[in-house]
Amino acid sequence: MFRAMMPPSTIAWSASGIRVLDQTRLPVEEVYLDLVTVDEVAEAIRALRVRGAPLIGVAAAMGLAAAALRAGGQGGGGAVGLESVRQDCATLRATRPTAVNLGWALDRMLARAERAVASGEALPPALRAEAQAIWDEDRAMCDRIGEAGLALVPDGATILTHCNAGALATSGKGTALAPVYAAVERGRRVSVIADETRPLLQGSRLTAWELGRAGVPCTVIADSMAASRLSRGGITAVLVGADRIAANGDTANKIGTYGLALAARAHGVPLYVAAPRSTFDPSTPHGSLIPIEQRAPEEMTRLGGTVTAPAGALVWNPAFDVTPVALITGFITDAGLFAPDRLMEWLRP
Ligand code: MRU
Repeated sequence: MFRAMMPPSTIAWSASGIRVLDQTRLPVEEVYLDLVTVDEVAEAIRALRVRGAPLIGVAAAMGLAAAALRAGGQGGGGAVGLESVRQDCATLRATRPTAVNLGWALDRMLARAERAVASGEALPPALRAEAQAIWDEDRAMCDRIGEAGLALVPDGATILTHCNAGALATSGKGTALAPVYAAVERGRRVSVIADETRPLLQGSRLTAWELGRAGVPCTVIADSMAASRLSRGGITAVLVGADRIAANGDTANKIGTYGLALAARAHGVPLYVAAPRSTFDPSTPHGSLIPIEQRAPEEMTRLGGTVTAPAGALVWNPAFDVTPVALITGFITDAGLFAPDRLMEWLRP
């Protein structure tokens, strides 16, 4: 019997700013951080305390609004200039380059600020309302993705996933895991295989933690085991999230997704990318133009304080890779399930 669903609360307003679950401390400790300044929010995003494409967009928007409210005084009616909002947006935008949700949320915030100034409206309450809308929409988009992907997770399904595209990566029930939660809510028996996800272990630390908390059986495997596991059969589908989807459907997601997609195709297992509208980037024609974040070499040369490579070892540490659209069976979105060649019909305004 599955326990009732209890997605962890990843973000909330606090008295002086925003409160976030520090994901670097999981699965050992459940610690919440109060972030007050824009620099603190930027640090939390850079350090992956707050992570996952949709959640960093929500956090940036809420952090920006909270900073404006503080600067504007209790009632939010004080003087907050458009120039300082622009600077704060630039600080937050520079934290992580790949997930387009971050720029999408900040563009919305800036546009709202410009409209407020043009109409003589006070900036802080306008920014707070826009951030609240972005937060509310994120939760609703997760629910719709869950419904759109429900048919892909029948009773008895075994789903293989990579990284964490669950509740911890959003402010709702996640993207790739949303159909899993929706199926379990309907009483279907579902189990998940979670790639460990080197080097930062989002699969074993985060996906296994949130599924365990929700009572969904989860088996952790090292990334190098995925092809072998797929070859043995019994995997219903591979479901992954995305950080940016180019206009042609090429998809940037956590490093290792591309290899997983190759293995899934070789073994005839369908691979679906689950993402809200905010992850699609029609202005980037194809995947080779998606900026890929490079992270510190120490993430590869140390593991939990233990040195895992000789001093001076050269390191290549891209946080994401690009899966060509040809390896993607379909997209599970908040507007339904799309075959890759139908994506543009939805994206075109
Ligand atoms: O570096 P991270 O942990 O932020 O990477 C997260 C991922 O790659 C997720 O799969 C992606 O953001 C989708 S989350 C719904």
